Amino acid sequence: MAHDPAIGIHDLSFATTELVLPHTVLAAHNGTDIGKYHRGIGQRSMSVPAADEDIVTMGATAAAPVVARHGTDGIRTVILATESSVDQAKSAGVYVHSLLGLPSATRVVELKQACYGGTAALQFAIGLVRRDPAQRVLVVASDISKYELDSPGEATQGAAAVAMLVGADPALVRIEEPSGVFTADVMDFWRPNYRDTALVDGQESIGAYLLAVEGSWKDYTERGGRTLDEFAAFCYHQPFTRMAHKAHRHLLNHCGYDVDEDRITRDLALTTAYNNVIGNSYTASVYLALAALLDQADDLTGRAIGFLSYGSGSVAEFFAGGVVPGYREHLRTKAHREAIDRRRPVGHARYRELHGHSFPADGGDHRTPAETTGPYRLAALRGHQRVYESLQCRG
Ligand code: COA
Repeated sequence: MAHDPAIGIHDLSFATTELVLPHTVLAAHNGTDIGKYHRGIGQRSMSVPAADEDIVTMGATAAAPVVARHGTDGIRTVILATESSVDQAKSAGVYVHSLLGLPSATRVVELKQACYGGTAALQFAIGLVRRDPAQRVLVVASDISKYELDSPGEATQGAAAVAMLVGADPALVRIEEPSGVFTADVMDFWRPNYRDTALVDGQESIGAYLLAVEGSWKDYTERGGRTLDEFAAFCYHQPFTRMAHKAHRHLLNHCGYDVDEDRITRDLALTTAYNNVIGNSYTASVYLALAALLDQADDLTGRAIGFLSYGSGSVAEFFAGGVVPGYREHLRTKAHREAIDRRRPVGHARYRELHGHSFPADGGDHRTPAETTGPYRLAALRGHQRVYESLQCRG
């Protein structure tokens, strides 16, 4: 019998926004002790989209280098995961497909289950590649996390997109069987269609996350997964980076280990570096953790990484990935650092203005100010249609 090829992440690239708000600025505005942000929730700054940026421009910006490196050969599917979509019917992935100039012989779809959607996209992509290993799937997880101003969630906002090329014989990480999955109908975080900020019960969501860690780990071990000691590191969904610490401590306790701060730090420390300065990027967050780990760690060749993806509402999945020999030659460490370092600080007043902005729903011609210096921009909303521009088309 032919041996099934390994399938997983062949390339990974992320993008974030034009602007950044340091937590020191937020703390000065609302009188919060900065220790609560820096140590209590583990956040130092948040990415803020310019007026002409959205999940489409971020998604295309993340994916463009992947297409530039690998071409479009074999890409027959684009799966865009998001919970901050721009349309109730049309997939944001179709705009990304168009901006990237992908062939018309492509299927494109959008997926949603809060912050878990990126992992659903990855697993569905693996299924497609398993059916035809010659095919590749472009997975894009893109989100803007937005809570009400002056609410407890405000400090955990952020924005980013991760693009992953999923294929056979991947250059970075092989995704393993089994997966442990868990679903529970809870109202910890949700966003009705008529709102542009999420509703959240913060403490409830932390509890629901921890329950989902237990549930998905239980299923993972019952299906013959690895033991905790086999993992070199753990990439958790990070709505705020301290949540990864809470979740890992909970998992260690649940598995009968003593709480050991050194071990928690060793297992997680490198995974929080990007989320710490970008903020919550919902579907992209767990894969930003992977990017941070791969970009910074000493050689992880042959080592196993544990992934815990959680999406409020709630669905979670625990799975493992094996790091492929030679992976370091394919990393985008420099570009990732640049994506973070190029952001311009935004003043508190402008941040609040951008936060409150929404297009009138009158079908008129509403142009956006040219703010982003990225390769794609949302130029206008015209006749209820979003109009995107790529850098090549700008005068
Ligand atoms: N120095 C250091 N730490 C401090 C501090 C200070 N001056 N002041 C507070 N803290 C710590 C608290 O002890 C707490 O730590 P702990 O959770 O380990 O006990 C942490 O900072 C947060 O303080 P808390 O009072 O719980 O903050 P909050 O009421 O503002 O809520 C969230 C925090 C995360 C619940 C809130 O930001 C939120 O709702 N976020 C959105 C939802 C979310 O991200 N959910 C996660 C699961 S998906």
